[in-house]
Amino acid sequence: MHRTTSRRTTGRPTIGIIGGGVIGLAIAFELLERGEHDITVYDPDPTRGAGLVAAGMLAPAAEAVFGEEALQALMLESMRRWPAFAARLRERTGRPIGYRTEGTLLVALTADDQAEIDRLVGYYRRAGTPIEPLTGRQLREREPLLSPRVRGGAFAPGDHQADPRLLLGALRGLPLRFASQKIDDLSTVRDDVIIVANGVGSASLTGLPVRPVKGQMLRLRGAEPLVRHVIRGVAAGRHVYLVPRADGELVVGATEEERGTDTTVTAGGVLDLLRPAADLLPGVAELALAETLAGLRPGTPDNAPVLGPLPGGPPGARTLVATGHYRHGVLLAPVTAAVLADLVLDGSTTVDVDAFGVARFT
Ligand code: GLY
Repeated sequence: MHRTTSRRTTGRPTIGIIGGGVIGLAIAFELLERGEHDITVYDPDPTRGAGLVAAGMLAPAAEAVFGEEALQALMLESMRRWPAFAARLRERTGRPIGYRTEGTLLVALTADDQAEIDRLVGYYRRAGTPIEPLTGRQLREREPLLSPRVRGGAFAPGDHQADPRLLLGALRGLPLRFASQKIDDLSTVRDDVIIVANGVGSASLTGLPVRPVKGQMLRLRGAEPLVRHVIRGVAAGRHVYLVPRADGELVVGATEEERGTDTTVTAGGVLDLLRPAADLLPGVAELALAETLAGLRPGTPDNAPVLGPLPGGPPGARTLVATGHYRHGVLLAPVTAAVLADLVLDGSTTVDVDAFGVARFT
């Protein structure tokens, strides 16, 4: 099929966003914040996608990795934007998104786990990320239900959380045109501006090396929250995070597996999560196992997103891409939205995105 006519009816350029997940809808939100725009969001199945599985950690410290300095700078920049993003979305939609600012505790069980956290603390300090080392006792003063075996860790006050399901619910309430047609070929999209933002699905549309990275996770449920902070733990070398919601839900994540598009929840995956979770916070064993699920993170070869113009799009359309957010889609939503809105409306952005262009993969 060929692109024949513009869908333009109002004189304004039409904008087609491929992907109705957190990234696509955050871009739509930012465009609406900056003026009236004619936006269609194409998504054949909004009940799929990484956002519905995501825990919602906003973790520029606890999710940072040695050697990924440009990505960490982008994560910090997006975190700086999160409070205003949450407030603007709340104001526009009237809906809560579970944005919470208690911060994240890094928690270690053994001496080796502690050494790993100590190395990270040094790295965060060099990067200018706020971090405060804590002893086991200081950790238990903040979270009394942590295991007495917890040895030490740190407090990352700048690592917050949002509830991705509430976030998606709020974003889907925006005045946008939603189209359920599946886009297999960009030349069938008739908009003047096309933004490809459909996570793992972007690989076949763009040729970019975006691959699925499976994550299994659990939702546990109790009458009361066991902890107030997000907990990022390592227990005998096994990593886990625990994200508490106000209603007593505790999200436990996540495995990281290279298994193509398989989303089976496995007994081994559940074990890999429950074992370190219960080692660090024994009370999890008493909670109801409410839901097990698996999602596909859109990974790239350098773990960083791809943001910017996409050469070789359909003739007559400006094509851009915002994909490959890997473990950081919810955190990076505000900065991604700002960058894409800048590029669509002004042709350039003041955010430093030199490290995130398409050219590094072409
Ligand atoms: N950001 C957490 C995860 O991807 O599992």
